[in-house]
Amino acid sequence: MRTETPQTIHLKDYKPVPYRIDSADLDFQLDPEKTRVASRLALRPNPDSEESAAPLVLDGKKLQLLSVAIDGKPLKSDDFTVSDTTLTIPQVPQAPFTLEIVNLCNPTANTELSGLYMSNGMYCTQCEAEGFRRITYFYDRPDVMARFRVRMEAPKREMPILLSNGNPGETGDLPGTGRHYAVWSDPFPKPCYLFALVAGDLAGVHDTFQTMSGRTVKLGIYVEKGKEDRCAWAMTSLKLSMSWDEKAFGREYDLDVFNIVAVSNFNMGAMENKGLNVFNDKYILALPSTATDTDYVNIEAIIAHEYFHNWTGNRITCRDWFQLCLKEGLTVFRDQEFTSDVRSRAVKRIADVKTLRARQFPEDGGPLAHPARPSSYIEINNFYTPTVYEKGAEICRMMKTLLGEAAFRKAMDLYFSRHDGEAATVEDFVRCMADASGRDLGQFFQWYEQAGTPQLKAEGRYDAKRMTFELTLEQKTLPTPGQPEKRSLHIPLGVGLVGSEGEDLPLDLDGVGILNAPIIELTGAKKTFRFRNITKKPVVSLNRGFSAPVNLTLNASPADQLFLMGHDRDSLNRWEAGQTRGRELILASMNGSVPNEEAGNYASALEGLLRDPSIDNAFKALMLGLPPEPDIAAAIGKDVDTDAVLAARDRVRAALGSRLDPVLNGIWTATAERGPYAPDPAGTARRALRYAALQMILLGNREKGVALALEELAKPHSMTAEMGALGGLIQVETPERETQLEAFFNRHAADHLLVDKWFMLHAQAKDANAAARIERLSRHPAFTYSTPNRVYALIGGFTSGNVAGFNAAGGEGYRVVADAVIKLDGFNPQVAARMATGFRSCQILDAPRRTAANRELQRILAAPKLSRDTFEIVSRIANGLALPP
Ligand code: PHE
Ligand code: ZN
Repeated sequence: MRTETPQTIHLKDYKPVPYRIDSADLDFQLDPEKTRVASRLALRPNPDSEESAAPLVLDGKKLQLLSVAIDGKPLKSDDFTVSDTTLTIPQVPQAPFTLEIVNLCNPTANTELSGLYMSNGMYCTQCEAEGFRRITYFYDRPDVMARFRVRMEAPKREMPILLSNGNPGETGDLPGTGRHYAVWSDPFPKPCYLFALVAGDLAGVHDTFQTMSGRTVKLGIYVEKGKEDRCAWAMTSLKLSMSWDEKAFGREYDLDVFNIVAVSNFNMGAMENKGLNVFNDKYILALPSTATDTDYVNIEAIIAHEYFHNWTGNRITCRDWFQLCLKEGLTVFRDQEFTSDVRSRAVKRIADVKTLRARQFPEDGGPLAHPARPSSYIEINNFYTPTVYEKGAEICRMMKTLLGEAAFRKAMDLYFSRHDGEAATVEDFVRCMADASGRDLGQFFQWYEQAGTPQLKAEGRYDAKRMTFELTLEQKTLPTPGQPEKRSLHIPLGVGLVGSEGEDLPLDLDGVGILNAPIIELTGAKKTFRFRNITKKPVVSLNRGFSAPVNLTLNASPADQLFLMGHDRDSLNRWEAGQTRGRELILASMNGSVPNEEAGNYASALEGLLRDPSIDNAFKALMLGLPPEPDIAAAIGKDVDTDAVLAARDRVRAALGSRLDPVLNGIWTATAERGPYAPDPAGTARRALRYAALQMILLGNREKGVALALEELAKPHSMTAEMGALGGLIQVETPERETQLEAFFNRHAADHLLVDKWFMLHAQAKDANAAARIERLSRHPAFTYSTPNRVYALIGGFTSGNVAGFNAAGGEGYRVVADAVIKLDGFNPQVAARMATGFRSCQILDAPRRTAANRELQRILAAPKLSRDTFEIVSRIANGLALPP
């Protein structure tokens, strides 16, 4: 048990540092256990600081200090003090001075994967958010921007590749020592969280890119030897990202080189270090036989995301960590736009809304709810969340909707020119939006500060005599932890009035006239919009394009929903209408039987879509996907029995599967592979539809489904085929799925990324004894808690991909996860805390489940020496459980 509550950091306490660091000269003598870091810092009093002659207090953690000198004069031991987290020098010159520090750090002992650590025999670093302090003493905060120069030394044979940020400089051998060195200098001042260093025996894949002004940039992707043939897709994606950012935002790359390194031990997806991105290798390596279509799409998007950070994050960084969504929300928005442009905008938007609903809405509606810009935290690593990333992106998208394309681009240009080289705030960003467009975004700013998903109630009323259509909108946001009172938000809503032929009727808004852009704005709690000259009864299509991240309820009849499903010109709302119908059908089936007529109508609407040759396969695949279990649970809202949700959803899927049998079989035949695999949009779409159809066949006609899956697995065309077939099989309890899982492991045991997939498949298997399976697999020789990807596959796959298994009424699912969290907390608190977020929706479950969850959460809280990371997440969730809705 923790003896004291860890300290909370508040946004309102922000203060500039008393000293600036203009440059940092770092010398690394790499050694597995005793890496020696010599740092020479050019400091001077900060003119922006209100303090005078303040002590110099630098951050440092798990370091061994060897010496400190100022202006060449060594300090005596009573000139400074060292604690577990700081180096304090009470008296320093009040003019520019040089501080020299020499310290040791231990990469081998670094199990947190933050700072300098070893992954598979190579040295690598991860400094965001606060890892640099584990390398050397520094102001480890993003508003301190310095020019870095790095020299590193390592044994040449074992570590032939030496990389850091910026441009390469001198290299050479150190005769007689077997060691060599390399110098790197980064001309752009940057915060230390963007520092990176890599040393290892790596294979490089090289290419070049010509920028818009004609400069040639050398590109390099470094991977484990023997994996060179798996980098082609990542390289193609990088070049595509570089040219897209020039076209879409006028952003040119600024260094002579851009390097990427793939590592197997990494807590997150990837990291945007200046000129030296470090990636989790699952987001680099791909061959048709090892990566699925989803992997290819993710690689493309994450390469783009990290590359785009060069402007949104690096050139313009964050003043403090509360501003995290300034770089993350905006960069996610940019990568979403990239994918929309290079693939299908309609499909991408639906995919993003699915993610938002699956990950951000549950967070926003539960004990972990926090504003996109939080006002306090205990551990910043806990705030790399769907709210900061995905809701942050939605907020940028809403501003674009409000400003329109041209003004938004002008505002972005202004942001880049006004704040280049600075550490900015969310206010700075929104001010650019307002200044460039003349719009008042004062109320809009609430989106950054207020947690919770707004509930939007809409009621449409047609008056045939007056030929008017009245739309009454009402918003309300429920209280969230720490925010009992909520204000009205400024909500932009895409709107359409759809005529009986599916045509959009002209929008003639009373008091305004014909709308140029089909957007209405709700700013107060309630408002009625009256549209005139509506000659026939329309069906309203609201929140088109998912223009605002709200929870909409509309007084639409099932017939209206089916009509929109078939006719809305807005593809997002076409899909949304299908989701609403599907959800209502599942809810209506909770009592044990599927309402016949409703299922029939839904199946006919789906069939119409599936048989329409003008509709994109990817869209068809999306239409086949019923709302996931957490959506249904959230719609029920309290006392949820997750077994009943799973059963009802499967009943509906089975009913649809058997009604759609002929058309699904037709799809299966029509989508067979005829040539070599390519991850292009058309092929990806065809396969998405193929395996979505297989899922339904498996539910509707198990025997046939199993036969098709086995046939597919007998001679799989690609990893997409293997995963598509196995991913279907694991949902039905058959002996075949166990033998097929075994076979998959035997085929792929040598490839760690495929072993991760295997653990993930197991974790998601629908099984009355799912928890026992997890327990058994956690003792499998291939399982290890020290590789984050493996933990995410097994434990994360279980908590998020096996809702009924994790939330088993007896509490055995909670127990395995709590065991894992406690074990992980001892050596990688970030990963432990991430896994603990699996409990975040337990407050809506029934009493036995809530009690069981609470028991396990209390057990975690009672663990000795619990980290701040896990303490913060688990105590917030436990507090939420104490007050069930
Ligand atoms: N900044 C990274 C990204 O979103 C994520 C990350 C955060 C990686 C913290 C590592 C550590 O692109
Ligand atoms: Zn990012």
